[in-house]
Amino acid sequence: MKKNILILVFICFTTMTFAQVELRSLTVENLSEPIGIETKVPRFSWKLTSKKRDVKQTAYEIQVKEGNKVVWSSEKVTSEKSIFNKYQGVSLESNTKYAWQIRVWDNKGNTSKWAKSTFETAFMSSNDWKASWISSGLKSDTVNGNVPMYRKTFSVDKKVVSAKIFVTSRGLYEIQINGKRMGDSYLNPGWTSYSKHLQYQTYDVSNLLGKGKNAIGALVGSGWYRTHLTGEPKKTNIFGKQTALLFQMVIKYADGTQEIVVSDASWKTSNSHILYSEIYNGEIQDARLEQKGYSTASFNDDKWTSVVLKDFPIHYITSAINEPVKKHEILKPIKVLTSPKGETILDFGQNLAGWVVVKIQGTSDDKIKLSHVEMLDKSGVPYFENLRTAKAQATYILSGNGIETFEPHFTTFGFRYVKVEGVTGKIDPDNFTAVALYSDIKKTGSFETSNPDINQLQSNIQWSQKGNFLDIPTDCPQRDERLGWTGDAEVFSRTAAYNFNVNQFFSKWLIDVAADQGKDGSVPFVIPNIFLPEVGFSLPESAAGWADASLIIPYNMYVTYGDKELVERQYPSMKAYLNHIRQIAKNDLWNTGWQFGDWLSYRVDDSNDEIGMKSAITDNYLVAQCFYVYSVQIMIKTATLLGKTEDVKEYQALLERVKKQFENEFMTPSGRLISETQTAYILALQFDVLPENLRPQAVERLVKNIESYNFHLTTGFLGTPFLNPVLTRFGRNDVSYKLLLQDTYPSWLYPIKGHGATTIWERWDSKKPDGSFQDPSMTSFNHYAYGAVGDWMYRTIVGIDTEEADGAGYKEITIKPQIGGDLAYAKGSLETNYGLLSSVWKIENGKFIFDVEIPVNTTATIEFPTEKIETITEGKMNLNAKSKSARFGSGKYHFEMQL
Ligand code: BGC
Repeated sequence: MKKNILILVFICFTTMTFAQVELRSLTVENLSEPIGIETKVPRFSWKLTSKKRDVKQTAYEIQVKEGNKVVWSSEKVTSEKSIFNKYQGVSLESNTKYAWQIRVWDNKGNTSKWAKSTFETAFMSSNDWKASWISSGLKSDTVNGNVPMYRKTFSVDKKVVSAKIFVTSRGLYEIQINGKRMGDSYLNPGWTSYSKHLQYQTYDVSNLLGKGKNAIGALVGSGWYRTHLTGEPKKTNIFGKQTALLFQMVIKYADGTQEIVVSDASWKTSNSHILYSEIYNGEIQDARLEQKGYSTASFNDDKWTSVVLKDFPIHYITSAINEPVKKHEILKPIKVLTSPKGETILDFGQNLAGWVVVKIQGTSDDKIKLSHVEMLDKSGVPYFENLRTAKAQATYILSGNGIETFEPHFTTFGFRYVKVEGVTGKIDPDNFTAVALYSDIKKTGSFETSNPDINQLQSNIQWSQKGNFLDIPTDCPQRDERLGWTGDAEVFSRTAAYNFNVNQFFSKWLIDVAADQGKDGSVPFVIPNIFLPEVGFSLPESAAGWADASLIIPYNMYVTYGDKELVERQYPSMKAYLNHIRQIAKNDLWNTGWQFGDWLSYRVDDSNDEIGMKSAITDNYLVAQCFYVYSVQIMIKTATLLGKTEDVKEYQALLERVKKQFENEFMTPSGRLISETQTAYILALQFDVLPENLRPQAVERLVKNIESYNFHLTTGFLGTPFLNPVLTRFGRNDVSYKLLLQDTYPSWLYPIKGHGATTIWERWDSKKPDGSFQDPSMTSFNHYAYGAVGDWMYRTIVGIDTEEADGAGYKEITIKPQIGGDLAYAKGSLETNYGLLSSVWKIENGKFIFDVEIPVNTTATIEFPTEKIETITEGKMNLNAKSKSARFGSGKYHFEMQL
């Protein structure tokens, strides 16, 4: 009897705990337990989990404490809002640790336990900076010269409770404390529009300090700050001539006192063993010159000289809001090759951005040189030409003292193959490890199908994202470019947001978009803008599809993450850009100025006229007018969201006029466009530019065009992202799948089937069908733009998407898998701001078997891919479906149906 009661109690207890709503993933400003929060109103987010279905948050309560003092209690707030809840307590203090806790109530009568987390503030005011900018003042400290080292000793005599370092540089820094490298991030402080926006990072170094004498060491390399950033090696020092360091350490002692150690005239400096360090060309290190132990207290710095103080501004420096660059995948060579010229080449099997760590034993003066390339030519010789002027080399001169380890400090390379010179004897591939470096954005998406080629395409898209999300979104990671091209980021931003959480990444970059915007609202081609008149550039600005990144990306971030504050912050910039287009357009027709148009669309002369058809050139101003329409549509949605009713009215009227002008200028009365290209019809359909009654025939023309190329795409950067979405939306999903599965040039799978590509190429035929390369002046093998099809793959094949407006950020979800392409299964998931959303289906004997997970606190509308709705079951019970689609609350579901 007693035993039975016990069992009953146990069952009740376990069901009670299972029924319980629980909390996880507590973040402040999108970061978990951040230590450098500077915003006065940080935003709190959390995720709910529950074993039950249909669970929603009905209320929450947040408490924030500093020590034992409650600085904010929200009390119980009746609300479903579980993301971006703003702090409303007393003003936050600088450099202070806050503990916060949250509990929620759900619609099933449960209350969660308190979940706890922390955040720490950085400097809440620029007055907190007590440090001075220091430079080496060394003659050799120039753009092509030696990388200077800095050092400083200090004493710790009391018990330390916390020690934090706040640091930035003009140039790139690396810090050591008592002989240990500080932190696990690289290329800090990252790349921003340095003269207007510079970030500092915060590090907790409490564990690195010891009692007695301590030492700090620092290296400051030229980085993006002053090495040349275009194919013109003479155009150096774009942001300034002199690198410098700004450093402040705050040590808090157990007795309640604190002490600061700052960069000032007492620091000393010397040349380092890094003889040369440059973004495109690489690095040269001479281990014979290494001053070992330079960041330890006992090091003798008698020969070092005093630093020079600089009065560079401090007031505009802000705490970093994005994830720093870190080391990620580690790859070993899969082959050691010998080229016909006798060169030794390591093949890492994957095109990536990062560097190679070399662990080697040799004799003093041995000089090991690694040259990085993406490709070998037909005969197996490393292909350097597409790097243009970038040397992409790492050179290490050995000291001869035992096993030595080398890796660069302030540069990266885009490569799959490395040519190795200078190793005596047989190469041991084990001595070489490739490391992928990219921003520490968290992986959110997964995608897999029964077709290995599509899976490889997905892998290539993700690798091109990894290769180009290096603090800013770059076009490519290898040649003498690697710039924040706005158009590339714009077309890829939605796909990027499926694969990784890019909220903070883009939030930081968009600060620079606004900062670099002209007074007239124009937006430069690249952000940070390096095409500055001061360095002799004079370029046109605001090209369609490129400059509109300034409003498309903020809006996409709102849609994906529900980050309203981001669009609020960007709104003045978005509005200024639209006004700029209104100024340059005549009578609402954008027909002036430089345009890239549908960049890199199919051209006959590109690959020996493989498919025997005409070049697909779309009128540049037709493209521009479509993007004008798109921009106005985004502004209507954004202004509506922000309650700017006057703007909404104005933009609605503008939209009608801009569309009308499109018809007047680019369309015959029967709906034929002046450019008979895929891109022309795609853009006109995607943005609803065509009158409704003319859309069906436009779809027909589009499909005819695709057929005339024997089911090949011919789109460039701007048409490609919308090609499959338009076909699917207008009922031709069959054609979308045909294009996706096409594997001869031009197509997404051609690089994979034809040439074993492991990243997305810049051109459809960066390598031609005959194995030769495209024009080396512009042929990259790691350019994510065409990978924008990834967005359609998630939205259509596995069918996961979010509603916009009030349902943004996956609060209101749509799940609508659309089958095709003979796929037997597809699995996809996305870690949303509410939790894991997944859609997994397979087809077996005419049956569609479908597993779905909907995060707590969200609702999903599922559309089933069958007409036989009477056969739909869920967990063995007939659903009695009234239509193909129905709304579901959170939870896991198992559906089956006949197709
Ligand atoms: C870049 C692009 C960029 C383009 C603009 C190229 O050199 O690599 O991807 O968008 O210039 O036309």
